[in-house]
Amino acid sequence: MSSKPIIVSGIQPTGNLHVGNYLGAVKNWVELQNSDKYEMYIFIADLHSLAGNMTAKERHEQIIRTSAELIASGIDPDKTTLFVQSHVAEHTELAWIFNTVTPISELERMTQFKDKSQQQLKNINTGLFTYPILQAADILLYGGQMVPVGQDQIQHVELTRDIAKKFNKKYSKYFPETKHLLTKIPKVMSLLEPEKKMSKSLGEGHVIELADEPNVIEKKLKKAVTASGGGEGAPGVENLLLLLKQFSSGDSYKDFEKAEKAGTIRYGDLKSEVGNAVAEYFAEFREKRNELMMNHDELAEILIAGADKANPVASKTMEEVRKLVGIR
Ligand code: ADP
Ligand code: TRP
Repeated sequence: MSSKPIIVSGIQPTGNLHVGNYLGAVKNWVELQNSDKYEMYIFIADLHSLAGNMTAKERHEQIIRTSAELIASGIDPDKTTLFVQSHVAEHTELAWIFNTVTPISELERMTQFKDKSQQQLKNINTGLFTYPILQAADILLYGGQMVPVGQDQIQHVELTRDIAKKFNKKYSKYFPETKHLLTKIPKVMSLLEPEKKMSKSLGEGHVIELADEPNVIEKKLKKAVTASGGGEGAPGVENLLLLLKQFSSGDSYKDFEKAEKAGTIRYGDLKSEVGNAVAEYFAEFREKRNELMMNHDELAEILIAGADKANPVASKTMEEVRKLVGIR
């Protein structure tokens, strides 16, 4: 067994990756992976996505697409155990055990549950409520010590730590106390409602997808909200400046920052500069993604190989946990 610290993170197969996912999580995963300092588990949280509104067909396609996009972003299946959550049955078994140590009141505090319930008023299912318990199982099954995620997931990682503590107190000190790991950009804002987090669930025009072609990026940015009332520090403008800083290869963001302070900034110019920078940054990604998408069999093989690596680890944890709780 490796003695490197263990990192676990996941993403739902609910839509194409967008620049919020990338700057808040995926870019960090790739950097952590390439540092060779950690043992990494990255998975596609298909079971979590069942609590949402996608059709079975959409979900099936999206699992393949998400895996292609993660690999095109730089996740290397030789370095990272990349797999699909439902391919490892122990996630749900451990989640059940964690159900029995998690107070309902803890789940009621979760802001993602409150938000998602508002977004899908006709489908407030129990899975949406117990979602963070499955997430704790995802992490602790592999002894995850660090979880790189965006800001919106901090609460779930804190709950994971509480669940581990409760289990350790009730049975035996077994699980580590997991910490979250943020990037420098834990929250990218929506293009159309820059006071809200950029999220797939807000709709197409709110996000820039990594796979968007240059003309699509340009069109979306044209509609992006800037400083409707005028004035320095408007969230829409700050967000565009942030994107420019992250994705441009040069220093042009400095000129735009200066112009913003001086009140001479031209939003049209800023938008086209951001558009060019994003389109160029992800040019290689788009090419790689399209190549991978032409070969579903190869992707399926990668995911099976990932599950083959994850399964023995998960099965060992569950054997030990079953003994600790007295069911084996
Ligand atoms: P979405 O909200 O678009 O459905 P997910 O919930 O699938 O995105 O998020 C996957 C990962 O990306 C999580 O680690 C999450 O914290 C991060 N993330 C999502 N949106 C953003 C954002 N706008 N800014 C920073 N990180 C984000
Ligand atoms: N809840 C996470 C999200 O919405 C996805 C996720 C599921 C996850 N299980 C996880 C993230 C375990 C980190 C660790 O983005």
